[in-house]
Amino acid sequence: MKIPPVKGTRDLYPERFAPIRRIFDAWRSASIRHGFEEFEGPTLEMLDLYREKSGDELVGQLYRLTDSGGRELALRPEMTPTLARMVAARINALSRPIKWFCMPKLFRGENVQRGRLREFFQWNVDVIGTADMVADAECILVGVEALRDLGLTEKDFRVHISNRRLIASLLTGAGIAETDHAGAYALMDKVAMVEGDVICKQWNRRFGKQIDFADLYDLLSVADLDTLRGTLAGGDSDIRPSANLDAAIAETEQLFTVLRHFGIIEYCELDLEIIRGLAYYTGPVFEFHDRSNANRAICGGGRYDDLLGKLGKSPEPAVGFGMGDVVLSLMLEERGLLDAPQTRNAVFVADAVDGLRPKLLGVVAALRRAGYQTEFNYVRQGLSKQLKTADRKGCVYAVILGDETLGRGVVQIKDMTGGQHREAAMDALIESPREVLEARP
Ligand code: HAM
Repeated sequence: MKIPPVKGTRDLYPERFAPIRRIFDAWRSASIRHGFEEFEGPTLEMLDLYREKSGDELVGQLYRLTDSGGRELALRPEMTPTLARMVAARINALSRPIKWFCMPKLFRGENVQRGRLREFFQWNVDVIGTADMVADAECILVGVEALRDLGLTEKDFRVHISNRRLIASLLTGAGIAETDHAGAYALMDKVAMVEGDVICKQWNRRFGKQIDFADLYDLLSVADLDTLRGTLAGGDSDIRPSANLDAAIAETEQLFTVLRHFGIIEYCELDLEIIRGLAYYTGPVFEFHDRSNANRAICGGGRYDDLLGKLGKSPEPAVGFGMGDVVLSLMLEERGLLDAPQTRNAVFVADAVDGLRPKLLGVVAALRRAGYQTEFNYVRQGLSKQLKTADRKGCVYAVILGDETLGRGVVQIKDMTGGQHREAAMDALIESPREVLEARP
């Protein structure tokens, strides 16, 4: 009986995994350059962690199981609750700001479609312990830099920035009670995905008395904060002013100022229509979008100042994002940027005649110890076949052992890129492979 793989999962054969590894390298390198430390957590968590922390949509997508002790568990659908749990457990011992990153595999029982799977990798970058907008801007910066490292430019993607606090102040200012905000966000989060009309009707049925859907979206579509201020002050809107609203606008302005100082303002734009589905966001929120397909989010994140307080003893401000590998791979593929990395330092060791295996294995071990990815055929074939394998594996050099040359204490080194041969002393190659291989004739 043939058993198929589970829907929404991927069999990542080496040639499919190699480009993803390139993405991992860019994520890890950008994180480390920006001062983040890598951590990992468990794949399985208690179900309650998500029931309390993630919001209804994610909870509906959980892969749940009950263990032999009757405990209700879930495969992690996101990393933020685990991060918050781990930090809360050591909150007094960790020096601030805590800057951590990880690249976990996550599981969500979603409708499978282009860019959406049930199992995927997600780079997480979070700063905990400061409410300073520099932290929010630094998260955006590290995301931009990783995408730039992968070859994407401001022509390919944009960072859309909003602020939950600002939206909350607008909703309150319109007369929508705080207890109804979660319901309002849930509707607003679907605007980009569902036919506008459907949401408009649902909104007006529920909140139309406070603010009409079209009026709200007129306000949210402003291109900058000065226009928003002007519209609110102009008396055209029914939003009541408040200190909270002013503070939220000032906070968002502050974020844009730091983004300008970091030199990435050309990647960023105000987009108050960004809401984010997850329940825990409290301040600035942002999404990176593919410019050629505005509905497609490469990444999403924001400030979640209340989550740690709910898990631990004291509140702790936090901000971060998650970037999945699936949409990013599609984007890179569409732009011809997804090629596997060229193996730069691979070497093939070949034997031209039978009987030289002991010597060949010694050379292989010495080259590997010196850091070269070193290939050889387990079963000896003719020299031309071995050189073909070397070529297919992208080797830069072939070291060829022959009866006559070894008799003179030398080996042949073939430059696989240019085709030239040279000779080098066998002892020198074993002693200092790098000097011999990299020596220019
Ligand atoms: P999220 O918006 O649920 O946020 O996911 C962030 C990113 O993960 C998405 O933009 C997308 O690239 C990727 N992603 C999500 N679901 C899928 C899926 N089914 N298939 C493929 N890729 C997917 C969070 O997860 C937050 N915990 C991020 C965060 C970290 N906020 C603060 N810190």
